[in-house]
Amino acid sequence: MTLLFPSAFSRVADVVKESPAEPVLCFDPSRVRENVDTFLAGFPGAVSWAIKSNPHPEVVRAVAMAGINAFDVSSRGEIEQLRYQHPWAKLYFNHPIKSPEDIAYAYAAAGVRDFAVDHPGEIEKVHESLKKAGADKIADVTLMVRFRDPSYRGNVNYDFGSKFGAAPDLAAEMLRDCERRGFSLGLSFNPGSQERDPNVYARLMRLARKVAARAGEGVPQRIAKLSVGGGFPCRYPNGGEPALQRYFEAVSDASDFGDCLVYCEPGRSIVADSVSVVAKIMLVKPESGLLYLNDGFYGSFMESKFVDFSPPVRAYTPRGAEIKADSEGAALYTIMGPTCDSIDQLPKQVRLPKILKTGDYLEFGMMGAYSNATATQFNGFARARLALVDSIAPWGSASYAQ
Ligand SMILES: Cc1ncc(COP(=O)(O)O)c(C=O)c1O
Repeated sequence: MTLLFPSAFSRVADVVKESPAEPVLCFDPSRVRENVDTFLAGFPGAVSWAIKSNPHPEVVRAVAMAGINAFDVSSRGEIEQLRYQHPWAKLYFNHPIKSPEDIAYAYAAAGVRDFAVDHPGEIEKVHESLKKAGADKIADVTLMVRFRDPSYRGNVNYDFGSKFGAAPDLAAEMLRDCERRGFSLGLSFNPGSQERDPNVYARLMRLARKVAARAGEGVPQRIAKLSVGGGFPCRYPNGGEPALQRYFEAVSDASDFGDCLVYCEPGRSIVADSVSVVAKIMLVKPESGLLYLNDGFYGSFMESKFVDFSPPVRAYTPRGAEIKADSEGAALYTIMGPTCDSIDQLPKQVRLPKILKTGDYLEFGMMGAYSNATATQFNGFARARLALVDSIAPWGSASYAQ
């Protein structure tokens, strides 16, 4: 059948009952509301959201409706989308390397006044682009100097420090340069993604203070903004990720920045648990344990290769009845995506009922971040589309990729 998107359903099982021929992102906006509430109530500072984690217009709408009015953006495309959907939102252009055209557009057409920089060359580029765009009040613009801790290699998931961030001495020099040019001063860092250690934030905040002190007398008092980045984890139902409150406490304990605005840029932790991907089984090869789906690495699962990724999984008949392992038991399956490419498979196997067959469906939970955001149409396979659901069932008896 052909679903009209976005359709609204009560449960994920009701989406399955429609026998969708293409993969579906089942989106429960109430999860976004809960996650935004947690950040707004607990984070000791301002909260923005990294739209890159899920730019689907329904998701963006839900995040804004939940009370987020500031967004971390990386490109003109994201700025245009937000100016269209939320014309008055505050935008932080936090990509450290930007094109002169995007800088000028952001400033002159979209009212952006905060830009990340991690190299003297980028300060020069931003300054020149702003002058060309007719900027007269440079003091209204905050340059967020992104630094890194050279002794920290990132977590198992991502090492952002290998791509971005100035070493502390260079960051201090850059703060002086920003001040000479008349910019307002900011500092930022990004610990990685799905960061499991709350203390990393406190450590990097203390380093921020040292960087500012190294830049000169009085500079710490003149830092107007400090971004502690994203990286806050989503909590897998069977995982050991610390509660977000532990991160908020760590940030609060290290907050010693006077009038400086401290803010965060979470992406994943706001949206991950709000989406289940429903995919159809195209074929099972029981003798080899290979299970072919209509979604995979080039679709909603690109991140599975790069992060420690263990989504909960459950199976359904085409009529929407959950399939549990019966007396014949369960088998370990290798999940293959639909394209002809052999890297199109999930890195971890999943234990699922032996009785699964062609035409049944799988639901993968915790799929709201970096899924549709990075999906391609490689080989001509359609990207998953979004259906609204009132709720996603608890994951009590689910299997996990292992
Ligand atoms: C500058 C910046 N801020 C925020 C984020 C969001 O990270 P996460 O989704 O891990 O919270 C990212 C992720 O790439 C980023 O590059």
